[in-house]
Amino acid sequence: MAFDISGVLSARASTASVRWQGYPPFHFIGGNIDEPTVPVDGLAAALDKVIKADGHSMAKYGMESGPQGYLPLRQFVAANLNRRTEMEVGADEVLITSGSLQAMDLVNQLLLEPGDTVVLESANYGGALTRLNRLEVDYAGVDLDDGGMRMDHLRTVLADLKNRGRRAKFIYTIPTIQNPTGTIMSRARRLEMLEIAAEFDLPIFEDDCYADLIWDGSRPPAIYALDTEDRVIYCGSFSKTIAPALRVGYLVAPWAVLRHVLPLKTDAGTGSLEQMVLAEYLPQHFDTHVDSLLPVLKAKSDTMVEALSEHFGTAATFEVPVGGIYIWVTLPEQVDSLRLSAVAAEEGIALNPGPEWTVDGDANRNRVRLCFGHPSIDTIRRGVAKLADVCHREFGVPERSGNVERD
Ligand SMILES: Cc1ncc(COP(=O)(O)O)c(C=O)c1O
Repeated sequence: MAFDISGVLSARASTASVRWQGYPPFHFIGGNIDEPTVPVDGLAAALDKVIKADGHSMAKYGMESGPQGYLPLRQFVAANLNRRTEMEVGADEVLITSGSLQAMDLVNQLLLEPGDTVVLESANYGGALTRLNRLEVDYAGVDLDDGGMRMDHLRTVLADLKNRGRRAKFIYTIPTIQNPTGTIMSRARRLEMLEIAAEFDLPIFEDDCYADLIWDGSRPPAIYALDTEDRVIYCGSFSKTIAPALRVGYLVAPWAVLRHVLPLKTDAGTGSLEQMVLAEYLPQHFDTHVDSLLPVLKAKSDTMVEALSEHFGTAATFEVPVGGIYIWVTLPEQVDSLRLSAVAAEEGIALNPGPEWTVDGDANRNRVRLCFGHPSIDTIRRGVAKLADVCHREFGVPERSGNVERD
């Protein structure tokens, strides 16, 4: 008889709902990027060069660079942030992580106990919300407008928590191409957030992993760059610009914080080959690569916008993306996105239903997040048309005069 593991599981153990079944034909979820844009030749050349030049240093955990990650990569990250985000940081403030998700896990582990509260944008990255749920941490949602997290509401939420005797542990924000709303917070609002954080004496965790994907390339300085009190912990990633499966991200913090983070990174270092390849490839190619990536993503975004307008008409409302890889769509009230996602899945369409990407799920039942980074232009067109058919069949939305089904 097979051993039954369930009898010895720890209290922290949880259960995967299903085994992976492969990607569906219309895969409009996840942070995946456009396949042809992965710079395979450049990475291959970099790998060949760097492994010959520095491969023997892999004999030691952390190579010659220690627990914060491969020094040439940290130097690139620091220089790149200086140029792109106005952050004045050195390689010593950078910790290379296994994707920015590991950075998020480290910050959560560093600061949170069950029962604590995190204040965050009320529509949010599903992966951040599930992590907080797993840690039994509460979160208080702050309303967004077209400029990102609303500062008047942030103040109200923090004051309300305070009045109830609850201290928020930190503000988590995705200020640049917010996930899922795609908004960019202005410099003025970033400064106001710092003022409010000072007033309530809180740290800010700034997740900037989409910041390089703004179509016109212009962005406000990072909140980290505007901070004069060492109040901000920052994370970024090469997932969206180079490749998510590389699993290379970074956390940036002053040593006073980093010294507490380092002991929590117990994986003995992020994969060295990935770090070495990126350190070799990026200094020469990052800007040109990103410049070539943006029109590809914008064309996909335009296609999704057109397809939504064509097939849903006025039933779908959204802000046209200014960057990133997703679009946050509001459908009429009668559309239940949880049910829509279940029936769409049967037709090979994957989408993110609003309740899984929001603090107040009920109020967002009629919203969906659609990702356009990975599917081809043709797949986007056909997938959105099919989604409109499914939605019409289930909810009578969009309205149609006839009952024409597409295949
Ligand atoms: C807001 C946000 N943060 C973090 C991540 C994690 O990215 P990675 O671990 O690949 O860097 C994602 C992924 O989609 C995201 O949307």
